[in-house]
Amino acid sequence: MRHPMTFALAAAMLAIFSGSALADKYEGTKKCSSCHKSQGESWKSTAHAKAMESLKPKVKAAAKTKAKLDPNKDYTKDKDCVGCHVDGFEKNGGYTIAEPSKFLAAVGCESCHGPGSKYRGIHRKAGADFEKSKKTTPRQALADAGQDFSFEESCNACHLNYEGSGWKGAKKPYTPFTPQVDKKYTFDFKKYVRDTKAMHEHYKLDGTFVGEPEFMFHKDFQSTAKVGEKGSDD
Ligand code: HEC
Ligand code: HEC
Ligand code: HEC
Ligand code: HEC
Repeated sequence: MRHPMTFALAAAMLAIFSGSALADKYEGTKKCSSCHKSQGESWKSTAHAKAMESLKPKVKAAAKTKAKLDPNKDYTKDKDCVGCHVDGFEKNGGYTIAEPSKFLAAVGCESCHGPGSKYRGIHRKAGADFEKSKKTTPRQALADAGQDFSFEESCNACHLNYEGSGWKGAKKPYTPFTPQVDKKYTFDFKKYVRDTKAMHEHYKLDGTFVGEPEFMFHKDFQSTAKVGEKGSDD
């Protein structure tokens, strides 16, 4: 099952049956954080981790009023809001309003890294192989299993989803927080992706995964990364 060809085949089948039960599944922040303890801890203090809080009444009242929203209204079950403030809204395994999971109720790991049901098993196996014999695994196997290494399109889907943003995928419901409301809501990927208000800090990797696709700032981030704490999911 973990042979790269199997993943290539699975990816091809996904292209045909996308949206079916074969699709990658969202699993929530707890699974990822059990192995990636430091990123999990750091993420918890980011704006993304608190995105659901912002939909509660009286929270961020001034920002809501400025965007012509009702500061006293509870937006936590509003389908015009929830989609961009949670993980994988109405996608396979993702957050739903009817059955809200607390491990999906924020902009979590999989909102940026991709739904993890397929690639997380490769992380475990590759990590064990590396520990045993320094054997490396190509990143391509992760990409084939649905892990995202470019990020920008995922960010755009929430940050540039409004009329006139220039992003081709824009469709309702739009974000109420646009540059028209306040210039500070202008999304600039290269700047925002370094903003520790919303992005977790970076920790040194052992080098288990190698080759393309590699994120454009990967080497840059790793050169200043901290030494973190790992865990396991057993
Ligand atoms: C699922 C939707 C979603 C995705 C994907 C997403 N964001 Fe966000 N982002 C939000 C929401 C919602 C907030 C506001 C959180 C809050 O304060 O409630 C936010 C806030 C931010 C902020 C803080 C802005 C400020 O000045 O207060 C930054 C920076 C940011 N995001 C960067 C990014 C980057 C970079 C990516 C892609 C790597 C990304 N985001 C992906 C929804 C998303
Ligand atoms: C298309 C995605 C999207 C939708 C739909 C959406 N939001 Fe957001 N929301 C965002 C993003 C992205 C940000 C972060 C903007 C930034 O700071 O640059 C955000 C930020 C916020 C903030 C924090 C603003 C601040 O200045 O701190 C609040 C409050 C909020 N949203 C409430 C809502 C409410 C209420 C709704 C529904 C009426 C809603 N959002 C619908 C994407 C969305
Ligand atoms: C808003 C987007 C976003 C969210 C949410 C997010 N990450 Fe990341 N993550 C990134 C980016 C961008 C990188 C840099 C990728 C690189 O350097 O290759 C990264 C890197 C990483 C790395 C590589 C090592 C490092 O520290 O740079 C790990 C591991 C990781 N993230 C785990 C997680 C986990 C676990 C969560 C959830 C608790 C999470 N991420 C949430 C965007 C995100
Ligand atoms: C069983 C433990 C385990 C789980 C669960 C797990 N990972 Fe990993 N992950 C690893 C190991 C081991 C590595 C290789 C780390 C290294 O090289 O230092 C890794 C590497 C990564 C990287 C770096 C990839 C690169 O470019 O080199 C990212 C990003 C990441 N994981 C995110 C996640 C996310 C998001 C989830 C949840 C969907 C997750 N991981 C679940 C163990 C795990």
